[in-house]
Amino acid sequence: MTSRPPTVRLHLFLHVFLTAGVLVNTFDPITTTVFVGVGAALGRTIYNYFHESCDAKWIGFNATGLEADLQRKLFGQHIASRIILKAVNGFMSNDNPKKPLVLSLHGWTGTGKNFVSKLIAENLYKEGMDSSFVHVFTSTLHFPHPSQYDTYKTQLQQWIKGNVTNCERSMFIFDEMDKMHPGLIDSIKPYLDYYEKLDGVSYRKAIFIFLSNAGGDSIIKTALEFWKAGRNREEIELRDLETLVSLSVFNNNESGFYHTSLIDRHLVDFFVPFLPLEYRHVVQCVLAEMEARGLKPDQEVADIVAKDLVYFPKSERVFSVKGCKTIESKLDYYT
Ligand SMILES: *[C@@H]1O[C@H](CO)[C@@H](O)[C@H](O)[C@H]1NC(C)=O
Ligand SMILES: *[C@@H]1O[C@H](CO)[C@@H](O)[C@H](O)[C@H]1NC(C)=O
Ligand SMILES: *[C@@H]1O[C@H](CO)[C@@H](O)[C@H](O)[C@H]1NC(C)=O
Repeated sequence: MTSRPPTVRLHLFLHVFLTAGVLVNTFDPITTTVFVGVGAALGRTIYNYFHESCDAKWIGFNATGLEADLQRKLFGQHIASRIILKAVNGFMSNDNPKKPLVLSLHGWTGTGKNFVSKLIAENLYKEGMDSSFVHVFTSTLHFPHPSQYDTYKTQLQQWIKGNVTNCERSMFIFDEMDKMHPGLIDSIKPYLDYYEKLDGVSYRKAIFIFLSNAGGDSIIKTALEFWKAGRNREEIELRDLETLVSLSVFNNNESGFYHTSLIDRHLVDFFVPFLPLEYRHVVQCVLAEMEARGLKPDQEVADIVAKDLVYFPKSERVFSVKGCKTIESKLDYYT
């Protein structure tokens, strides 16, 4: 992971190339022409070599990689981990999918929704989240003003169409989906559906990932019930959560999220619940972060960092309020 991103490599190359061009000026015109011609051809080859393109050299699914990452880097999410692996594996091994893959990730802050999106991107695109085929839209950042939603709508549709035209294997991540204008959600519906083509473009190989806190409360409630009953968290099954999540999302009149017909049209292929994280998971996150930073994993420091977080509900203090979200800055402080 220490290699320079392609753009930096390209700039370095161009710099050398331009410097060479200055030297070339001191030769006679014919030599210069030859030099420049050869240089341009070479430049093009090198540019193609480093520049990300929509082909197998830059895009290829690594199923073993995703499985290993989910197992080693995601903590406390046995249900999400299983669904994600199955969903992405199934979709990527189908040469002729009937619709794009649409995943809706639900759960409280810091439980790993963004992180999982990143793991999927990293095992699909050589450039991971830096890939020019991965697009992240954050409601409060990209579509902040409800009054301008007509403009956003046109823009978003153009972006999706333009990018999928460029590369059918494009990935779109919508963060804070529950804060998105219902009309805006409606406007992307056609792209998620079972169409062979829309205006000559097929969206069937694209991947859409929606992230939201919607349904987080019901997931927490279930997890807490299991905990209070002294039952093992790993006994929680998808069916304990699935209807609950889709119902609470659907019936929540506060968020415009699924007021649209995303649910009744079955455009979302998988609802993926993320459980609230306990103290021991936070410790695991800290240890993993230390390892990622090249530090020696230190149980004592991990405990200090984990103890520094706030847990809820107030009486039992079982789940971390911010999940694993703030441990990075805390770790900076303690090491
Ligand atoms: C897939 O991921 C595994 C585990 O991270 C790694 O060892 C392997 O080299 C990867 N394969 C490819 C083709 O990148
Ligand atoms: C692709 O999406 C990005 C936003 O992520 C946008 O800026 C760009 O214009 C889109 N490209 C095309 C060709 O529409
Ligand atoms: C949502 O429903 C609740 C209870 O049915 C109601 O009190 C509240 O005003 C509603 N909110 C909106 C935005 O419609």
